Amino acid sequence: MTALRPLLFAANWKMHLDPAEAREYLQRFLAAVAPRSGRELWFFPGSVAIEASAQACRSRADIRIGIQDVHWEPKGAFTGAVSVGMARGAGASMALVGHSERRHVFGESEADTRKKVRALLDAAMGIVLCVGEKLEERERGETGAVVLRQLAAAIDGLAKEELSRLVIAYEPVWAIGTGRHATPADAADVHRVIRGHLTARGAPTNTILYGGSVNLSNIRALLAEPEINGVLVGGASLDPERWAEIVETNA
Ligand code: PGA
Repeated sequence: MTALRPLLFAANWKMHLDPAEAREYLQRFLAAVAPRSGRELWFFPGSVAIEASAQACRSRADIRIGIQDVHWEPKGAFTGAVSVGMARGAGASMALVGHSERRHVFGESEADTRKKVRALLDAAMGIVLCVGEKLEERERGETGAVVLRQLAAAIDGLAKEELSRLVIAYEPVWAIGTGRHATPADAADVHRVIRGHLTARGAPTNTILYGGSVNLSNIRALLAEPEINGVLVGGASLDPERWAEIVETNA
């Protein structure tokens, strides 16, 4: 794999941490973690804490703030939704798209995911596209097919240069928040399937993250897999000192 690609640690706070809590968290985290070359730190706070988080990190070039979900329309009567422009105005420079909770809890369709990718590309925002199979799909031996279907639907019609701007996060649904994680070898197998598809589409160098119950005890083994270019972490990113310990892990 590309040796020069930075190792990526992305924290998905989900529906945790209000603006004051986000500020306090980041104060403690920044005190514990100095910038290091070859590593990037991304945080995805709840929408209302994006501005506070971006301000807290403004002196740190190694940190980026993102939004957990966006609507594809620039504005309009979409109660509760946040547009790409609004996210950017609050200080986000990237977004998660197609997280399994958006797909399976909120019913986001693959067509919705594609529209979000398009809107973010048009706004020159970073994108972390999440894909992953459910337990029953894995048990039926459909992991590769499901992941490729989700990926193909989301990137349909993109030009090569657009495609190469995407970061992909492989997050098996059965591993998210459950304490069960894919073995590094299993995760790497799926990463190779994703890489194969991207390479066939002319984009061989995208960063591919693993997510799903990543914690201090499995991070080293996951990052030892050259196919795994970083991690997307929910539960274990919610405590600043614990997250600091994880991001200080060297493969
Ligand atoms: P988890 O969540 O680390 O709590 O399993 C990962 C994610 O949903 O991105």
